[in-house]
Amino acid sequence: MKKIIITIDGYSSCGKSTLAKQLARKLDYTYIDSGAMYRAITLYFIQNRIDWVSPEAVVKALADIHLDFVMNVMSGVCEMHLNDENVEHLIREMVIAEKVSEVAAIKEVREFAVAQQKQMGARKGIVMDGRDIGTVVFPHAELKIFMTADIDIRVERRFKELYAKNRNITIEEVKQNLELRDYIDANREISPLRKADDAIILDNSQLSLNDQLELVMQWVEDATMAHTS
Ligand code: CDP
Ligand code: CDP
Repeated sequence: MKKIIITIDGYSSCGKSTLAKQLARKLDYTYIDSGAMYRAITLYFIQNRIDWVSPEAVVKALADIHLDFVMNVMSGVCEMHLNDENVEHLIREMVIAEKVSEVAAIKEVREFAVAQQKQMGARKGIVMDGRDIGTVVFPHAELKIFMTADIDIRVERRFKELYAKNRNITIEEVKQNLELRDYIDANREISPLRKADDAIILDNSQLSLNDQLELVMQWVEDATMAHTS
């Protein structure tokens, strides 16, 4: 079957990466978590005390950053490597979540990440999730999905994940972080989070993972057919 590009954009913790991984497995596509790139850059900036308010400091720091997605053969999912170090776990910490939207709003940071993301789609057969994938990275993608879910459901989902690793985390802290990131992401000057005109809305507040996959697989089939004929 012909391979297409699938983009999944939307608010924090609504299940974008979960759906993207399911699709990639089912279709034998590559899954790229574009948010991991912004998280890794934020990690580098924090670890190296980069003053990201200064464009000169940002440009200089970006020249020293090498990002790679490396396949974990056990899980079959690509993991984020920053300058040859696997940072997949470090980038999921709350300290990164607290700063990532600020860093992702910087023009030079976006240009750096988007240029690499565009190259990854050259051979199609890719599912990429993020905030600007259907609008900026792949504006001609064959299937674009805009995901959302009720804020309290999203908070509960992310809280469960974080609490399993850190018993000190509170639900209020998680809610504040999601609301703040959604606000910054949707209101920034460059590439704000918005639904592409031709994206299909998927509100999965009341959908199980299986129901969601079944629904979206139909969309994939339709989009693939439409671009084959
Ligand atoms: O998984 P979660 O929804 O918490 O976020 P993520 O996908 O890991 O993205 C982390 C942050 O990176 C987002 O809140 C955005 O600030 C930024 N991001 C972005 O600006 N553009 C993208 N394409 C992906 C992420
Ligand atoms: O990538 P994003 O931040 O949008 O969300 P995610 O990391 O894929 O999903 C956050 C959590 O929501 C995961 O633990 C998923 O298993 C869960 N989820 C769910 O419970 N029901 C759904 N329909 C979708 C996701």
